[in-house]
Amino acid sequence: MGRVTSLVFAKEGARVAIIDIQEDAGRETVGMIRDAGGEAWFFQADVARSEDVDRAFDAIKTEVGPYDVLFNHAGTIIVKPLHESTEDDYDRLMDINVRSAFLVCRRWSTPNEWSGLIVNASSVSGLLGRRFLVLGVGSPANCAV
Ligand SMILES: NC(=O)c1ccc[n+]([C@@H]2O[C@H](COP(=O)([O-])OP(=O)(O)OC[C@H]3O[C@@H](n4cnc5c(N)ncnc54)[C@H](O)[C@@H]3O)[C@@H](O)[C@H]2O)c1
Repeated sequence: MGRVTSLVFAKEGARVAIIDIQEDAGRETVGMIRDAGGEAWFFQADVARSEDVDRAFDAIKTEVGPYDVLFNHAGTIIVKPLHESTEDDYDRLMDINVRSAFLVCRRWSTPNEWSGLIVNASSVSGLLGRRFLVLGVGSPANCAV
């Protein structure tokens, strides 16, 4: 979904800065956008780590320029029954889905750096319980800029 959203942003004329932990996939998306005549850049980062988030935003400011739409989409799911879920599963999911949104939105809201809007992707699993997606429920956010 992150790739498709990036392609749609670019098709609509946005200059797209992609942040993802997967370098190959991120660079492939940048290639797809550029091949279609759009503008895109890739910045590798683990968005659950504040130093990575700051490094990526510093680079975007320098290499791309001011940003005005944030689409927060990095996320994952863990599919298993509740009674088999571990505290490590919980911590991993919350770091990737929730802590990342906090860190990215916090950096985005740095005075004099931001304007525009933030879209945080979520899931219907936050509204309707689904079997084996217990740890997905309540994880609100997910990252491309
Ligand atoms: N696919 C769906 O139908 C769907 C529906 C509703 C909600 N969602 C939610 O959207 C989120 C993403 O789902 P998706 O299907 O697009 O998955 P996806 O795997 O296609 O995209 C998620 C991206 O996040 C990146 N990512 C993961 N951890 C990261 C980290 N620590 N730092 C930086 N990047 C990281 C991954 O590398 C991947 O490129 C999930 O939280 C999921 O629950 C998905």
